[in-house]
Amino acid sequence: MQIQVVQGNLAQFASDCIVVNLFEGVTAPGGATGAVDRALGGAISRLIASGDFTGKAEHTALLYTDGNLPAPRVLVVGLGQASKFDLHGVRRASAVAAKTLADLAGVKNYATIVHGAGVAGLDAGQASQAVAEGALLAVYQATQYRREQKERGPSTCTVVEFDPGKRAAVEAGVRRGEIIARAVYTTRDLVSEPPNVLFPAQLAARAQQMAADVGLKNTVLGEAAMRELGMNILLAVSKGSANEAQLIILEHAPAGHRDEQPLVLAGKGITFDTGGISLKNPGEMWRMKNDMGGAGAVLGAMQAIGRLDLPRRVIGVAACVENMPDGHAFRPADIVTGMTGKTAEIISTDAEGRLVLADTLAYVARFQPSAVVDLATLTGAVGIALGKVRGGLFANDAHLQDALMAAGERSGEKLWPFPMDDDYGEGIKSDMAEVKNSGGKGSGLSSSAKFLEHFTEGYPWAHLDIASMVWSDKEKGAETPKGATGYGVRLLVELAGAV
Ligand code: BES
Ligand code: MN
Ligand code: ZN
Repeated sequence: MQIQVVQGNLAQFASDCIVVNLFEGVTAPGGATGAVDRALGGAISRLIASGDFTGKAEHTALLYTDGNLPAPRVLVVGLGQASKFDLHGVRRASAVAAKTLADLAGVKNYATIVHGAGVAGLDAGQASQAVAEGALLAVYQATQYRREQKERGPSTCTVVEFDPGKRAAVEAGVRRGEIIARAVYTTRDLVSEPPNVLFPAQLAARAQQMAADVGLKNTVLGEAAMRELGMNILLAVSKGSANEAQLIILEHAPAGHRDEQPLVLAGKGITFDTGGISLKNPGEMWRMKNDMGGAGAVLGAMQAIGRLDLPRRVIGVAACVENMPDGHAFRPADIVTGMTGKTAEIISTDAEGRLVLADTLAYVARFQPSAVVDLATLTGAVGIALGKVRGGLFANDAHLQDALMAAGERSGEKLWPFPMDDDYGEGIKSDMAEVKNSGGKGSGLSSSAKFLEHFTEGYPWAHLDIASMVWSDKEKGAETPKGATGYGVRLLVELAGAV
């Protein structure tokens, strides 16, 4: 779907459908909705009076204009209560409209106002960004392996802004939203890919292609280079796999920012997690193709950060490994020495994410980061604690924690903080080595982050456990169709623009 911006009067715009909105409880619509209502002889007011449409969030009503307007259809989208309305409401309303129209075969193009930029008083640029994001995110489908189109529904969406003074802000906001939504597509595509196709070298090839398209610096380290660096905790996880591990490094360093301390984004990229010798149950094992969701989010975020040309240095690192059992595989009770010289005892080969990240967090210290944020599908427990609503946040720096919480609220990809008391590290003390990779059931969710903390040195750091967020078996609001969600991209782009 192409999104274009024009200045003008939506009611007079010719397209297959025009989209207007209504807050809950409004009986006499104003703005563009009021203009359309008048042109239709009060049809929207009568609809409200009938009680059939109240403006509840996510509700819609479709009207036919019978020649009274250039457009044959009007879709009214409910915005819910005005007092609760925010940018997320804009994104959702735009997504609901796009999804509703995608189901109407006669609608090839539509036009919409910028929800929220009128009486709701939201910033026109930010609201326009949310309109573009919502529309594109709603029509995505993973169709790599089916003969359908990647995006369903209308081929063009025109954003019509009445105020000539806001036109430039709307244009810029729509372009930002498009860049971010396309980056979420990249992540959704990667997470959807089956593990026989997207093994580590293939993920690296996709990253390389993306970096070339966007203009990011790109380096990939194979196993020999990682062995040279002493990354033997990461490499232990790869031992049972026929597919070589890859460390992908992407850098956005715009002129004037080449020498500044970078923000580093690090992602867990287990292209398939069988659990290794600590084999998982077969029933749900197929889901572990999404165990590279952290790496996927980092690659998507780097695509957007590059395209937006954010005025700061950002480095994205994706640690890509396949966790398989075979005669060469690492075992429970093995002890391995990583890049920092610290030794780790393996209790479970299924706690592999923290092993891969351990050496990745050690590796990124060379960049002298201003901050490091890792994203990982690390534990099933985070989903027990938070459900599929917020990702888990573990930080050793209050400023970074606050910035992440705020970016989560603004982007709609929310987080919730967990404690980092040293006592949570008790359970992962090893009798044999300096640390062990699992403390067992009673040791608490925070022990996973305490393990990682052992390998972070010299920089503010936060760990995001996104295990329950990267995949959804059902739609989560119109902007998140079922399947790969692309969670993390919007959050990271928002963070990179803020800290
Ligand atoms: N990739 C899994 C975590 C996971 C579980 C992600 C369910 C998404 C859905 C991770 O590698 C894992 O196996 N974690 C174990 C850790 C345990 C062995 C300490 C877990 O959470 O059970
Ligand atoms: Mn695992
Ligand atoms: Zn895993």
